[in-house]
Amino acid sequence: MLSGGATTFQKTNPDVSLSRESYSQAAVNLSIGQRNKFALGNAFFTAPWQPESSVESSRTGLGPLFNAAACQDCHIRDGRGHPPTESLSESSVLRVALINGEPDPIYGHQIQTRALPGFLPEAVPDIYWQNSSVALADGETISMRKPFVVLEQLHYGPLADGHGLSLRVAPAMIGLGLLESIAASAILAGEDVGDSDGDGISGRVNRVWSQETSATVIGRFGWKAGQPSIRQQSLLAFQQDIGISSQLYPYQPCTSVQTDCLASQSSIRPELSDEIEEVLLFYASHLAVPARRWHDRKEVLAGKALFHTLGCAGCHQPSWRTARLDNHPVLSEQLIWPYTDMLLHDMGEGLADGVSEYSAQGNEWRTAPLWGVHLAKAVGGAEVGFLHDGRARDFKEAIMWHGGEAQASREAWASLKRDDREKLIWFLKSL
Ligand code: HEC
Ligand code: HEC
Repeated sequence: MLSGGATTFQKTNPDVSLSRESYSQAAVNLSIGQRNKFALGNAFFTAPWQPESSVESSRTGLGPLFNAAACQDCHIRDGRGHPPTESLSESSVLRVALINGEPDPIYGHQIQTRALPGFLPEAVPDIYWQNSSVALADGETISMRKPFVVLEQLHYGPLADGHGLSLRVAPAMIGLGLLESIAASAILAGEDVGDSDGDGISGRVNRVWSQETSATVIGRFGWKAGQPSIRQQSLLAFQQDIGISSQLYPYQPCTSVQTDCLASQSSIRPELSDEIEEVLLFYASHLAVPARRWHDRKEVLAGKALFHTLGCAGCHQPSWRTARLDNHPVLSEQLIWPYTDMLLHDMGEGLADGVSEYSAQGNEWRTAPLWGVHLAKAVGGAEVGFLHDGRARDFKEAIMWHGGEAQASREAWASLKRDDREKLIWFLKSL
């Protein structure tokens, strides 16, 4: 039941308290002092940042180009963002890259859809949904949908030839410090680049640039494991999503053609103070994973067995033990159940975005953790979806989008008896 080891948050009655705050709890083994730090960090995660000079406060520096004014606008109640409907929602981002993974020379790595007065936002993404459905052998029909993006009002000129666009919703913030505490050597030991064991599932580590250590290290965070640490991912979010510079990223996300943006570089550099950075990162590293529910029910146990026999566990690796951290017992040597191998897998053309990120290709994604997944909609609302762009409205649709190395697993599930298919879903609903 304790998906996050000793950090796990357990509700008193799992049936009646599927609450909106399920992802917002502190790791339960924090000390009182650490709880205060967590609460302080929470305030900076939640409250909107203001434009510079509008008010005298440590919370200024928003923009000039940005997507949202607060972390929480995208990571809704510390959970996932909403998939866009017709235009880009506030809780997803649109990344751009050339075929070789380089940023677009005009727009950079990400389209900033908002701007302060006097500046032009980069573009207006329009989203179109292509609907389809699949009929399984016994007559059950599963609806599927896939988003397409068209960029309107490109205010700084056309995108480079051969660019790709990748729509991504914000993932949940739970358990990130635990994932960061898994030893790199343990993740590397799980790599199976050429599928040497012949089970049809390979899996490799993304090797990414660490801005902190100026070295290539293993990627852990983001849908393609493109970022090595909570710190780098979070400070990049400050820069790219909110327009706040930090020690690690001391500039605004302006490219050389965006002269207004360049001219507005803040005189206070970096805009994010070290003190705020510290509490914010403490917060981002210590959001508790909620406990499992129904772990001993008959249909859940049957679903768990299927999860293994269908090959889901080949990527969604159930458990890990975090490394020994002598100066941070909270996250040290915890037995955790994230259901991810932290590796990239070819997921087929249906999920491919045509954008590479370090060694991850367009069709490759990091196995999404499944811990706490039963609470995703309780936290974020019915419109919350699964997979990197939030397209899947429920677990069945999420499974049916699994292709590439996961195709055999998907087909095995689809050809089960209806009863057994449901048992697997019950298992997911217990995580
Ligand atoms: C405009 C929306 C948006 C805002 C604002 C935003 N994020 Fe994110 N966040 C995302 C998206 C989208 C991803 C997935 C990125 C990817 O796959 O490249 C993400 C990923 C992350 C991750 C990695 C999670 C994981 O499971 O791999 C962390 C940590 C994170 N964000 C922290 C923050 C912090 C801290 C802030 C505020 C400074 C913030 N984010 C603001 C959209 C946002
Ligand atoms: C080859 C590896 C692989 C196998 C096998 C696999 N998955 Fe996945 N799974 C992934 C990856 C990678 C993602 C993220 C894909 C994306 O976001 O586009 C994912 C995403 C998911 C999600 C959505 C999670 C989220 O946070 O949105 C669910 C649910 C899921 N898988 C369940 C299953 C089940 C059930 C099975 C077995 C029938 C299975 N998976 C088999 C790799 C795999």
